[in-house]
Amino acid sequence: MTGRAIVTGCSKGLGEALCLELLACGYQVLGISRSTPPITHPSFTFEKADLLDLRTPEAAINRFLTAPSMADEAFLFNNAGTINPTGPLHLQDPRTIADLITLNLTTPLALMGAFIRAVNAEPTTVGTVVNISSGAGKHPYAGWAPYCGSKAGLDMASRSVALEQGETGVKIISFSPGVMETSMQEQIRAMKKSQFPHVERFHSLFTEGSLIPPGRVARFLVGALLDNRLPQGATVDYRDLIG
Ligand SMILES: NC(=O)c1ccc[n+]([C@@H]2O[C@H](COP(=O)([O-])OP(=O)(O)OC[C@H]3O[C@@H](n4cnc5c(N)ncnc54)[C@H](OP(=O)(O)O)[C@@H]3O)[C@@H](O)[C@H]2O)c1
Repeated sequence: MTGRAIVTGCSKGLGEALCLELLACGYQVLGISRSTPPITHPSFTFEKADLLDLRTPEAAINRFLTAPSMADEAFLFNNAGTINPTGPLHLQDPRTIADLITLNLTTPLALMGAFIRAVNAEPTTVGTVVNISSGAGKHPYAGWAPYCGSKAGLDMASRSVALEQGETGVKIISFSPGVMETSMQEQIRAMKKSQFPHVERFHSLFTEGSLIPPGRVARFLVGALLDNRLPQGATVDYRDLIG
């Protein structure tokens, strides 16, 4: 059996942790990001790409899934994301808003479509998409309007595509990982209160040691997927699942 997984945003944080976990479980992994990840494993392939440009990743996904023959089991983790721009919306440059929406929402939707086309071309292939969302897609935060909007959009798009695919098609999951110890949290702690009024809460989570290591989230998520614990269309949060 050939199991292959594609992970966007593989150079650090949750994406790197997902790659390492999937490799440890015996999968061939294609990682996509702009900078090279510190991963050396014979089953790891790296595609250097800016996910604001959709052409390269789509072609890479097709090549990876089909060569030398189509995978029996395939995963797509739409993980790459950005929280920038932050601050009151009326002070933001529309071009930076557009880039955030492209990276966090348009690209995952386009890659999901490309992945479904590739999987549907081979009826015996079992396919799963995991869109990495955020609690900020369910709860509003002043200063994070583009980020909250993109993640709420990703949740709703995931649920819609899950309805299209039904019980026999590609499984679509939206997964919020909780507050993790990654570079995105460093960016959040560096924000001014005028930019993000809740910044002190995130400083407290850091000093209390409450940030979740991304490796722990990756181990949990991959385990839940392989045990088939996440049903079609599930929109779930790590913190609710661990109880
Ligand atoms: N950290 C948290 O507390 C938290 C909480 C909730 C949800 N999330 C979500 O979890 C996911 C991973 O977050 P993280 O904390 O691991 O973030 P991170 O440490 O900032 O890593 C982000 C990843 O995305 C990649 N990326 C960013 N822009 C890209 C672009 N234009 N093209 C290609 N790759 C790009 C980065 O690679 P390059 O820079 O090398 O391209 C990097 O590998 C995100 O979707 C985030 O919204 C995180």
